[in-house]
Amino acid sequence: MPEQDVATNGRFYWGSATAAYQVEGSPLADGAGSCVWHEFSHTPGTTYHAQTGDIAADHYHKWPEDVELMKNMGLNSYRFSLRWARILPDGTGVVNPRGLSFYDRLVDSLLACGIEPFVTLFHWDMPSALFRMGGWSNPDVADWFGDYAAVVVGALGDRVRYWMTLNEPYVVSAEGHLVGNHAPGMRNIYQMGHSVHHQLRAHIAGYRAIKAARPGARVGLAVHNAAVWPGTGSGPDIAAAERAEGWHNFPMFLDPLVHGRYPPALEPRLRPFLPVGYENDMPALQVPPDFVGINYYHGYYVRDTSDNWLGFVEVDGPEAPRTKMNWAVRPEGLHRVLTQVHERYHLPAVFITENGASYEDRVVGGAVHDADRTAYLKSHIAAVLQAKREGVPVEGYFVWALLDNFEWAHGYSQRFGIVYVDFETQERTVKDSGRWYGELARAGVPPQDQELSAPSIGS
Ligand code: NOJ
Repeated sequence: MPEQDVATNGRFYWGSATAAYQVEGSPLADGAGSCVWHEFSHTPGTTYHAQTGDIAADHYHKWPEDVELMKNMGLNSYRFSLRWARILPDGTGVVNPRGLSFYDRLVDSLLACGIEPFVTLFHWDMPSALFRMGGWSNPDVADWFGDYAAVVVGALGDRVRYWMTLNEPYVVSAEGHLVGNHAPGMRNIYQMGHSVHHQLRAHIAGYRAIKAARPGARVGLAVHNAAVWPGTGSGPDIAAAERAEGWHNFPMFLDPLVHGRYPPALEPRLRPFLPVGYENDMPALQVPPDFVGINYYHGYYVRDTSDNWLGFVEVDGPEAPRTKMNWAVRPEGLHRVLTQVHERYHLPAVFITENGASYEDRVVGGAVHDADRTAYLKSHIAAVLQAKREGVPVEGYFVWALLDNFEWAHGYSQRFGIVYVDFETQERTVKDSGRWYGELARAGVPPQDQELSAPSIGS
């Protein structure tokens, strides 16, 4: 099928993404409650140069300009997250109308510009009040999340058609509760296991609340992925790669939702840290989402080891260029992940909900010549279109990110935007990559003179 048919077959969303704590700033404005990232980043020693999301890209005030930017670039969709504690300052109970009104106005403005809103309910900013009651370790969190979902779908559900309950629950569990370099900074393997299971329960509560109010809404979740290859063809290394994939990628969350069990390669190691009696919840978790959101950045190789809990260790793979995050650029890995997710679950739709790269950017004469990022986007979009041609039901692609933003523990040292943000003046400059991506989005196909070359697809 020619490229044109692939990209324009039905409605294809070309968008960009952000998350509330990373771009909004004003974390406590207009009656909002605190969240774990606010407290974590204000704790000395947690983030690069003690940077916080207090101002970030000031999207809380500059959103009209940002919507205009998207419109002028030609993007037809925007993935953003709601900050739970703006809407429910204590996480449950009393609604803060001023917080809700911020998102209400944003949605109206997007729609007026022909931009489809894709809303994420939880992108890591657990309300502090709920964290004090145990956060993701407290089984009640599923009800708290379901109530929150009911409030927002009640307010926005007449206009928002695409919902993601959770963003990268793996990172919340691993980085937030085991490694501790993300909020809430816990280092406890039991809290890790509990947070995996209770995030799944919360997803279901959110899914049900949205469907109850809006049966036609499409509800999914966005999951973390890194392509994983075994370092050798040996049986133990292949098994190690399966464990790594189960842990880092879609299986830990999608196997329960689609197949009603944790991934077989991982479950024996995860089981001791899951809540007692977790098996009883599995039938209720088996509700396939309407779509899966794939977040993808890089790929790596592993070998078997007995030196750590999960039994795999990263090893050198074939040479690949690196981004500023030191992530290996492997577009063929995005094709691999898309193919795997489709073969394993056959879900009705797949979105690439995040893909992008951080590079050293500079404004020179009013422009940002980020050729590396443009090359990154071209090669990854080619991989997506190839997977789509081969039958993976991809319906949209979102660049991470619309704007340079607060990259969690890395603060402002990593720029992922297709729009440069001067954090002193808050001035926006569309990077060359944003111009290229805008042309693609407007045409719905790759620009004629810049054919996308497909990456060489390995096994
Ligand atoms: C995935 C996360 O969802 C997002 O918040 C983060 O900024 C990007 N990865 C880049 O690390």
